[in-house]
Parts: sequence; structure tokens; C-alpha cells
Amino acid sequence: MMINKFPKNFLWGGAVAANQVEGAYLEGGKGLTTVDLLPTGENRFPMMLGKVENYTPKENEFYPSHEAIDFYHRYKEDIALFAEMGFKSFRLSISWARIFPNGDDAEPNEAGLQFYDDVFDELNKYGIEPVVTLAHFDVPVHLVKEYGSWKNRKVVDFFEKYAKTVFTRYKDKVKYWLTFNEINMLLHLPYVGAGLIFKEGEDKQQVMYQAAHHQLVASALAVKAGHEIIPDAQIGCMLAAGMTYPYSCNPDDIQKAMDQDRESFFFIDVQSRGKYPGYAKRFFAENNIELEMEADDEALLSKYTVDYIGFSYYSSRATSTDPEVLKDKTGGNVFDSITNPYLEASEWGWTIDPKGFRITANQLYDRYQKPLFVVENGLGAIDQLDEDNEVKDDYRIAYLREHIKQMGEALKDGVEIIGYTSWGPIDIVSASTGEMKKRYGYIYVDRENEGKGTLNRSKKQSFDWYKQVIESNGENL
Ligand code: BG6
Repeated sequence: MMINKFPKNFLWGGAVAANQVEGAYLEGGKGLTTVDLLPTGENRFPMMLGKVENYTPKENEFYPSHEAIDFYHRYKEDIALFAEMGFKSFRLSISWARIFPNGDDAEPNEAGLQFYDDVFDELNKYGIEPVVTLAHFDVPVHLVKEYGSWKNRKVVDFFEKYAKTVFTRYKDKVKYWLTFNEINMLLHLPYVGAGLIFKEGEDKQQVMYQAAHHQLVASALAVKAGHEIIPDAQIGCMLAAGMTYPYSCNPDDIQKAMDQDRESFFFIDVQSRGKYPGYAKRFFAENNIELEMEADDEALLSKYTVDYIGFSYYSSRATSTDPEVLKDKTGGNVFDSITNPYLEASEWGWTIDPKGFRITANQLYDRYQKPLFVVENGLGAIDQLDEDNEVKDDYRIAYLREHIKQMGEALKDGVEIIGYTSWGPIDIVSASTGEMKKRYGYIYVDRENEGKGTLNRSKKQSFDWYKQVIESNGENL
């Protein structure tokens, strides 16, 4: 029997992260988070690389997370628009510092808890299933200052307490959870992924893998607590996915591409298969990386594996061992990649590869044999308002159409996919650049890079298109 349709209860929707939408960065008792120290513009990158000199925002910089798109005050209007598109699910993250402003507080902050209660109630009003990420690129700054963030084992306990607090509070409202957004990003943007700032002379790899171990243990503890507190919970991991293609059939290229993919798979292998893979142990041994583990860590990792594999897919990657070929680098969600001569790229140099989406989904399903949830996919582009004040984003529709077609092909291949939440259904702040002009939405937000604009929302051409996709359960593209 051929499966060629999207399943009946397929979770169509959209995805955002707290720090990219909420704003109100100190309202309702929220504490400062790592991302609140990242300005837009050329100073963003040095900071992302972990060279933050001090821990307070500077007068002469613009910090996009401080107001973002003001979802904190406008969530009702935004959710009504999502409901109009027929969303079945909406992925958002909880800002840890709204719940525990310092990260290590004795008691949670009631105003923060209430805010998400209100958001979940609003979603529920329209029958939209919340899909909630516990950590999406924001760590309370106090934990960075006092403890060195995820370098420190104590942060695992603070995170476990935070996870238990939100599971208990929202147990009747939220069933789908994700632990760490794009957990493999830690190796590429350690400040963003884990609040890591390196000291002079510190062995970065050692620090990053130790922090990774702490996040993996914290993720397992969250799975444990989540299942104890919410019996029907579905708790997933989240990988920044996108297969690495070898540039040629030279075995050296094949090996290199495999090694590059394994840098990312390593995390999911632990979260889903429950143990450190052999290739990771070899890598640690050859690079003098020694992980400090507690006695029951390995048992925890093995017992509390995830229920599903959440992943983002924007582009595939490619690599080579030929120094000449390697000169031709391209952008793409901060992962190193060479230009693929068969493919086009977005305005930010991210390779556009719909077939790679099918290939990646198959690769993940072959490896893990667990349901997949596509929790991010989309095209960041510059949108222009036309003379009628509308955005005709046919390029975005084209990108999404081709990707959704390939998701359908993956379903035909027998890959189990439970949902698709496209990234930034409403324009939001870009995580990598802090820009507003890198837009993903079906809904336009009147806001510019340096904060000008009314924040008014309006529908783009893609709004009705996505509505029809959902209405027809992926038939009418
Ligand atoms: C993913 C992140 O890496 O890609 C999101 O989980 C991010 O937070 C998205 O926004 C798109 O990246 P960018 O840099 O275009 O916002």
C-alpha cells in the first residue's frame, strides 16, 4: 500500500522563538537573557562568538530582542491570524528568564507563568496545539555571570527545576515539547546555543563538549520529568538538519561529508539512541577531550530517550577535501559549506535544495526510526511593499511549495512525519543577523532593522496560499 497523503491529524502550523518575537524584555519580572545582549549590525557577530565584554546593554547599540515584534502585547491578534490560516499547531519557546529571572531563583515568577498560561489559553480557544521549546537560544544572564552557564554542572539542576515547573503548570495545556532548539548549534555558536564565553587559554572544544554533555543530561532529565508529570507528553529533541553532500565520489570526500554530519548526529544519537556513539568516543580520545560524568549519567541517557525527532531544514550542505574546491564557501545557518553548483541560494547565501529535504528526512528516519516533526523550514527574504501596500511573495510560495512537495515524497518513502511548522509565520527578528529585513512570514510586520515602524500586521500573498495548503491537507499547493 502506498502512503501518498499527509496523515489526517498532520500538525500544520508555524514556529517562533520567545526572544525573536516577544519583546517586553524586562516586563513582567523577566530577567536579562544572553540574547538581550546581542545588537543588530556588525557588533553582533563578535558577541555571538563569545567575546562579550560586559553584561549590560550599551547605550549606543540597538538590541532587537528588547522589543522584537511585541508579541508579548499582541499575541491575541497574532494568534487570531494564525487561526485564520487554519493552523493546527504553533511552536513557540518559553523564555527561561520569564519563569526564573536569574535562573537560580528559589521560586518561579508568577507573572511569567501567567503570560504563557494566557498564550496557551488563546491557542486552545482556536484548537491550535502548542509545541513548546524549553530552551531556544536564551540563557538567563545571571547564570552566565555566576556559573559560566552550561560549562557548569549546577546549571543542569536549575534547568531541571525550570522544566519541572513548566511541565507542572502547563500539564493540561501542552502535550508536545522540545528540549533544546538546534542542540548541535552549540558547536557553531557557543554563546547563542549555550551562553558560553571562553576564557583566555581555555580549550574551546573541551568546554563545548562538556557543556554539550550537560545539555544532554538536562534533556534526558526533562524527558523523565515530562513523562512523569504529563503521562501523554511527547518530548522531542531538535536538530539543525541538512545533509552534507560529498563534492565528488572520491572516498576522502565521502568520509569527510560523513564526519561533518556526525558532528551534528552525535547529539541526536545520544538523545534518541541513548548512548555516546563509537565515533564520538574516538573523536574525544583523539582530541584529548575528557568528559566529566556523574555515576548515573549514562543510565539516565539510556533510559530517557526522546519520543520524536524535531528538526529544522533550510538547506543542504556540501564539502570536499580538495583545497581548490574548498575556496568556494557559501553561507547557510552558520554551517560551513561549499557552493553547490547545481543549486541556487537565497539572498543570504543559504542554498535552496527542496530535494535535500526529502533526502534529509529519509536519512533521519533511517537512522532513528522515530516519528519526525519538521519544526522549522522557510525562506528568509527581503520583501517589498508594492503600490497597494502589499507583499507579493511568490518567491516564498515557490520555496515552500517545493519543500512541501518533497515532504510528500518523503511520506511516500514511508517516512513518518507528524507535523510541519514553517519558520516565522509572522515576520520576526533574525537569529543570526538580528535584522528585521530578513523576513520569513505570511504576515508582514511594519518594523525596520533599527526599530522604526508601527508594528502593524498585514497579510502577504503567501497568507492565503498557506491557508489553502492547510485546508486541503497538503493537496492543493
Ligand atoms: C534556526 C533557528 O537556526 O534558524 C531560528 O532555530 C532562526 O531561531 C532560524 O531564526 C532562521 O535563521 P535566521 O538567522 O534567518 O533567523
